[in-house]
Amino acid sequence: MADDLNARDSKLVQYLNEAYGKEKELEAALQAHIKMAASRASYKKRLQDHLKETKAQAKGLERRIKQLGGKAEAGNLPGPDVVSSAATAATSAATTAMAAAKGPVHALRGTGEAEKLLKNAKTELWNEHEEIGNYLAIETLADALGDKDTSKLAREFRRQEERMAAFLQKLIPTLTKAVVTEEVPASQRRTNGSRPAKRSSRSRSRAKPAKRSSSSARAKPAKRSSSSARAKPAKRASTSRAKPAKSRAKPAKAKAAAARRASSSS
Ligand SMILES: [Fe+2]
Repeated sequence: MADDLNARDSKLVQYLNEAYGKEKELEAALQAHIKMAASRASYKKRLQDHLKETKAQAKGLERRIKQLGGKAEAGNLPGPDVVSSAATAATSAATTAMAAAKGPVHALRGTGEAEKLLKNAKTELWNEHEEIGNYLAIETLADALGDKDTSKLAREFRRQEERMAAFLQKLIPTLTKAVVTEEVPASQRRTNGSRPAKRSSRSRSRAKPAKRSSSSARAKPAKRSSSSARAKPAKRASTSRAKPAKSRAKPAKAKAAAARRASSSS
């Protein structure tokens, strides 16, 4: 019986049950989001794949909980030795009902079709990160308690969630651009897009000399500070300006020499 678990296994079962509850909640949410993602085939396919992963994760967690002598319950509650099975069952039913209710609510999201998908993706990313946190905690707990099987399970599931989170992070900018296309007239897009670009280019052109002057002002004297901090930049400045002067002077000398030659020959 779950009530007979020691402190170690109770804590493992508690954390595994928290993850199990989240997986069961997301099964319902993912099913709702898949129905809404019909217009984007690749996104829909990824959601379908992750739903399969999510179901497999729930089964894997349930199996491990049973192996540890516990009972899988989809309620985010403390361990079975703290909460009665009746209370756990009631919370489990409430969690499932809440998850099922999220589908219709999400269908009403956003001002348009694109924004609806964007809001779903943002929710999915938030959920993935909660799951990553769950599995990271389980993995660490299991390592600390010498439970290699649970640690391996948690690590595998965490990596699956991380891959889904990475997919969503790439998708969200695409979905946001689709909202722009769908909801903002092209003329306003161009205006809004060009102004910051002009400002940024100006600010860059202003910033670059500032960076150069600040870096040269700080770096060069610092290098020369040991000898003559002020004299050397002055010399360099004069040489840098003098070089063109010399290059100009050379033609003058050459002209004079040519004039002398001309006068001597004549
Ligand atoms: Fe998951």
